[in-house]
Amino acid sequence: MSTNSFVFDASIEGHFQTQWQAPSNIALIKYWGKHGQQLPQNPSISFTLSQCVTTTKVSFSPREELNDKHFEFLFDQKKQSEFYPKIQLFMDRIMPYFPALEGHSLSISSQNSFPHSSGIASSASAMAAMALCIVDFERQFHSDWSMEASFQKASFLARLGSGSAARSISGPLMVWGQSDVFPQSNDHFAIAPSEEWHHIFHDYQDTVLIVDKGQKRVSSTVGHKLMQGHPFATQRIEQANTHLKQLKNALTSGDLELFIYLTEAEALSLHAMMMTSSPSFVLMQPNTLAILQKVWDYRAQTGLPLCFTLDAGANVHLLYPLKDRTPILDFIQKELVFHCQQGQYIEDQVGNGAKKI
Ligand code: PMV
Repeated sequence: MSTNSFVFDASIEGHFQTQWQAPSNIALIKYWGKHGQQLPQNPSISFTLSQCVTTTKVSFSPREELNDKHFEFLFDQKKQSEFYPKIQLFMDRIMPYFPALEGHSLSISSQNSFPHSSGIASSASAMAAMALCIVDFERQFHSDWSMEASFQKASFLARLGSGSAARSISGPLMVWGQSDVFPQSNDHFAIAPSEEWHHIFHDYQDTVLIVDKGQKRVSSTVGHKLMQGHPFATQRIEQANTHLKQLKNALTSGDLELFIYLTEAEALSLHAMMMTSSPSFVLMQPNTLAILQKVWDYRAQTGLPLCFTLDAGANVHLLYPLKDRTPILDFIQKELVFHCQQGQYIEDQVGNGAKKI
């Protein structure tokens, strides 16, 4: 696919203000390993969430002087300089696709619905919200653009900020990375496949157990790099492709046994890759392992379809159908919250994607 269609119109100019809310997402098939400019080594699929969101307002104004500041960033109404390098990198990467950025200064104000230092990755929702605001600016000059075309561009730009951000645009499930089982899929932007997903997944629950609120011990940039020359890289890429094909069947048929098997296998494979890379990382903590064991025991005892997935960290995402929420939440509160840092957990569920505010 040529990326030329993603180069924006250089001549656009003016004042504009817009605000978007973009959701976080949780991968079921994990993206781990990249090449080129933020291109994935394997396809991934994620649930779009609905409660964990970033809301971002961007005001664009023509830059008077070229040495004027390019952007100013407020998080929770405060200047927070630790975010600057990541935003600067994002701006540098999107500049070739959005040359009008050169002539504008951006005033960006952002906030998350979830606690900032909860250990929940916020870069996906943050980059997606920013990308949606930028695309909205150009959209003013192209009233003929369909929403689908705008979302593709936003996903393309968001990807340049953070790979998984490409999937934080629509919902309820997003596929990013070329796969034969999803004909429209590609490495440049994520798609919301037109499949009829089984109804059980439309409002699937995700309760996020905060085991560790701290900074990630290994950044995802470092983590993806560890896949270069990894002894099991080829097998992992094959496995992710096979899992995606099988998971598509589970997601359309509602086969929860298969869904659980694949979701947990993917989470453990992701961590196995980190444990077997050089240098290696163990990101699960004793409380993570205690939770996983309790989830397996609970499932064996009750037959209820509770399963887990993990990000590149110690926190646990618990996935289950809405119809089983009452007994499962009771179990979480009585048995699992005890393993969370300060008893902290977040209740979320599958959602339908970003919206303009
Ligand atoms: O988007 P990044 O570069 O932060 O990578 C995210 C990687 C995982 O969260 C571990 C998996 C995924 O697909 O989201």
